[in-house]
Amino acid sequence: MTAKDWFTMAHKENFAIGAFNVDSLDIFKAIMMAASAKKSPVMVEFSPGEVKYFGMKNVVDMVINARKEYKIPILLNLDHGKPVELVEEAIEQPGFDNVHFDGSDMEFKENITECKKIVDKAHKKGLLVEGEFDKVSGSSEKHEEDIDLEQLKNSYTKVGNAAKFVSETGVDILASIFGNIHGTFPVQPDLDIDLLRQIQQAVPNTFLSLHGGSGITADQVKAAVAEGIVKVNVNTELRVAYKDALEEELGENPKEYKVYKLTPDVIMAVASVVENKIDVFGSAGKI
Ligand code: G3H
Ligand code: ZN
Repeated sequence: MTAKDWFTMAHKENFAIGAFNVDSLDIFKAIMMAASAKKSPVMVEFSPGEVKYFGMKNVVDMVINARKEYKIPILLNLDHGKPVELVEEAIEQPGFDNVHFDGSDMEFKENITECKKIVDKAHKKGLLVEGEFDKVSGSSEKHEEDIDLEQLKNSYTKVGNAAKFVSETGVDILASIFGNIHGTFPVQPDLDIDLLRQIQQAVPNTFLSLHGGSGITADQVKAAVAEGIVKVNVNTELRVAYKDALEEELGENPKEYKVYKLTPDVIMAVASVVENKIDVFGSAGKI
């Protein structure tokens, strides 16, 4: 099944596929183990920083090898892809299923022009393209500060612009913004499910993604999936689980120098977060 087949099935059957960021090899293993245990399709995604850390070639090889080893559907995505050249590089690689072209720093018109070019190239190679305007704010970390709700609301997806952006670019997936923000915060804003419903009505043939999947309550994520979200991006909660578990391991084993002896419990801690997300998204048992 292609990525398009999976998202079509997810839309029809009301579940979402988790798009989990890969920050380290341990996190990659944790995602594989969790998806495998849950018999769930999964998307792994790499931001430009994460691609830089691994190297593009290693990203591709790692995923291709894992598909053979775990025998589960592993979709590969370039997350928040920019600049244009990096997105083009990903399109040229074997193994990618989706590229997220993040043109949200550009003017709306320029974003449409550049995104359309990416869509043309990607579609020729059979890849899906995810587009973004109205920037998803925040950053994938544990924030201690409060969110400026008024400012956040200004970034919410404008329904009219969504229809225009989709029809002029031909993107397959739209990163929609309706209360979601990257990272976790002391008080997480509520999702505006009514707005999500309006966005889906404005672009009925386009898949919708939910960025900033960390920190949102299970009930709210389920409500968003019920309204058409088919891809939920998760990064911060994996990073936090990894760091907390690693700190604990280091504290408990001050004399252990073999890293591979310290990491099994760290991997399990991250895998447990991924398994919980898979349950919330409803993708368990869909293979
Ligand atoms: O693109 C990646 C995500 O949107 C991750 O967001 O760090 O809030 O889970 P998060
Ligand atoms: Zn994101």
